[in-house]
Amino acid sequence: MDPRLSIINERLKNIERIIAVGSGKGGVGKSIISTTLALLLSKNNKLTGLFDLDFQGPTCHLILGAKDEFPTEEKGIKPPQINSVYFMSIYYFTRDNPLPLRGWEVTNLFRELLAITRWDNIEYLIIDMPPGVGDEVLELLKLINKKEILIVTTPSILSLNTVDKLVKLLKNLNIPIIGILENMRVQPSDIVKKYALENKINYLGYIPFDYSIEKYIGEINLFMKTKFVLNLEKILHEKILF
Ligand SMILES: Nc1ncnc2c1ncn2[C@@H]1O[C@H](COP(=O)(O)OP(=O)(O)OP(=O)(O)O)[C@@H](O)[C@H]1O
Ligand SMILES: [Mg+2]
Repeated sequence: MDPRLSIINERLKNIERIIAVGSGKGGVGKSIISTTLALLLSKNNKLTGLFDLDFQGPTCHLILGAKDEFPTEEKGIKPPQINSVYFMSIYYFTRDNPLPLRGWEVTNLFRELLAITRWDNIEYLIIDMPPGVGDEVLELLKLINKKEILIVTTPSILSLNTVDKLVKLLKNLNIPIIGILENMRVQPSDIVKKYALENKINYLGYIPFDYSIEKYIGEINLFMKTKFVLNLEKILHEKILF
């Protein structure tokens, strides 16, 4: 019995909504969407936390514009607020060094980070999931109560094929799916909408490919004015947010 398991849900119990952004597929926009979601929630006066669960390739700190902030220690560790979002990431501890972990070490790190992080009185916790269905994803699905999954995919058969595996897993485990968000659309397509309909999943809408976002990564004020963010805000506003 791992004593940390009893602390983890205790730490999270006052949070109104825990939304994990996942796909199964890599490179579809999970990190940029989860970070933007956290920024938009906090812009709308919700106390919001963001947890980067990608231990091998954390990137939320780049999008959020983190500099040299570090968590403070006080009966656990308190995530610093970056652009109004309480942010926790393995990046604080590894910076830009690789973190080649195996099975049990990943599980251990997941449990440790969640057991020590004090989210205090946040209302929303957004979790950026890594690609695949590795140990940290399985830990998240198994250990955290009260979570909902927001699925991201591109309009590609290759992406949907992998997404479908995560969807099946979530359905088997009875984990609620908020809906499926189509990202990086470059031409008209209905494959994601069709997939959502066939699988009785809420189709949230689509975000076109936006060539401008790359140059505003980390420049929050300019980033928040991009078409990408405005499109996402409109969808989230209508479908899940406020
Ligand atoms: N709508 C969009 N328009 C243009 N570029 C986008 C869009 N969405 C995401 N991108 C870009 O696509 C790349 C992948 O996005 P991101 O890192 O968020 O994906 P991911 O699913 O988190 O990837 P990984 O599986 O590696 O964690 C990034 O360079 C990001 O800036
Ligand atoms: Mg990512």
